[in-house]
Amino acid sequence: MNNDQTQTPDTRTTRDNGDRRSAIRFAAVGDLHCRKTSSGAYRTLFAQASKAADALLLCGDLTDYGLPEEARVLADELTAAAIPVVAVLGNHDFESSAEEEVRRILTDAGVQVLDGEACEIHGVGIAGIKGFAGGYGPGALGPWGEKVVKLFVQEAIQEALKLEAALARLRTRRRIAVLHYAPIDATVRGEPSEIFPFLGCSRLAEPLIRYPVDFVVHGHAHRGFPQGQTVNGTPVYNVAMPLLLRSFPDRPAFRVLEVPREGEADQPPVPPGATAGSGNR
Ligand SMILES: [Fe+2]
Ligand SMILES: [Fe+2]
Repeated sequence: MNNDQTQTPDTRTTRDNGDRRSAIRFAAVGDLHCRKTSSGAYRTLFAQASKAADALLLCGDLTDYGLPEEARVLADELTAAAIPVVAVLGNHDFESSAEEEVRRILTDAGVQVLDGEACEIHGVGIAGIKGFAGGYGPGALGPWGEKVVKLFVQEAIQEALKLEAALARLRTRRRIAVLHYAPIDATVRGEPSEIFPFLGCSRLAEPLIRYPVDFVVHGHAHRGFPQGQTVNGTPVYNVAMPLLLRSFPDRPAFRVLEVPREGEADQPPVPPGATAGSGNR
């Protein structure tokens, strides 16, 4: 990793006039998997992100075993971040059944940990959920048969509803979504196809059609694909740290994604083929 290098913003919303002040820059990375022994491992990364962006998005699996000790190490590392930090938890953060304490430790450190909530950074609305598994498209698991299968499917539906509620609360013209699990299968490709259903669920993409966003970031699929899009054309970025390290070995392990600054944007995000006020909001 080149510690001196910052990234070129790479979203479709990037302006080409070279004026960085016209856009809000988000540095996004997931799957840090911070351990008790990780002290010092992320400080440089967070300092680099603070220079390259206006806010940092952490897409879950913040800790490796969901231990409060790991969260305290990460909280200490995050003192190197000089920009607002917004995060969602991942499945690893639930492993020790201490997710509430993990969340509290990070919240006390100034991180906005979203679980179906929304926040606003520099006029950009951010909706965040962990998400859940279940598979994609016609192959997605349905709520049929045994009770445990219905419970499994219901968890993904609940997460999608949480995302929809968070997006519905936002009144900003510009919005982004932060998840851990993948809402589309394009960004999990590269993983063994046998585990696709455990990497995310297309139910998570449904709120993104009703409430279009500028982009979606997620993690979880460490060997997936860096970029895809929803059926309505919204860019989706897999920012799992192992994937970024492998895909962009010459860059710091985060992606910089831009959203036009509120008030300067032409139009809020609207899916192709839809018109503003057509019922998609
Ligand atoms: Fe992970
Ligand atoms: Fe994960």
